[in-house]
Amino acid sequence: ATRSHIDKPVVLVGLMGVGKSTIGRRLATRLGLPFIDSDDEIEKASGMTVGELFENYGEDYFRDGERRVIARLIDGAVKVIATGGGAFVQQETRELILKEAIAVWLDADIAVLTERVSRRNTRPLLRDTDPHMVLSELAEKRRPFYEQAQIHVRSNDGAHEETVERILEALA
Ligand code: S3P
Repeated sequence: ATRSHIDKPVVLVGLMGVGKSTIGRRLATRLGLPFIDSDDEIEKASGMTVGELFENYGEDYFRDGERRVIARLIDGAVKVIATGGGAFVQQETRELILKEAIAVWLDADIAVLTERVSRRNTRPLLRDTDPHMVLSELAEKRRPFYEQAQIHVRSNDGAHEETVERILEALA
């Protein structure tokens, strides 16, 4: 794919640790498009980290902010957006993305996700838990939603460049 093929925002969805931000940034560079991370936008808008939002106001409050931020980001401009792992599970957000954007589900084995999230312990849903167990449960619960994405790409090996190539092929 080249930039001119793409007429909608490309939105990366999938579980924590799969590499949505890293891969999204590289994909955007390859396509010459802007890159935006929805968690970063939520942090900018609220002046708090995702962890602080969960801790101070709870998950429902975070989800409400997430829904509004993503709706604002999908403004007709072509760009690459990385979403937080739970965003596409919310019906309103999912329907908006499926209608106005191209959803790319990035998917990897739980062992790979566990390894990646364990490097940085910033995720409120994984705090004081066994991340392998929580990620397995989330994978099962969220699969029916992630499966609705128009594109499904595996990203197991940690070779992000290869994953980017696969996404580019799928978008072409
Ligand atoms: C969440 C994923 C996180 C962040 C929040 C909740 C989730 O984003 O939005 O901690 O529900 O899966 P990443 O997928 O970028 O870690």
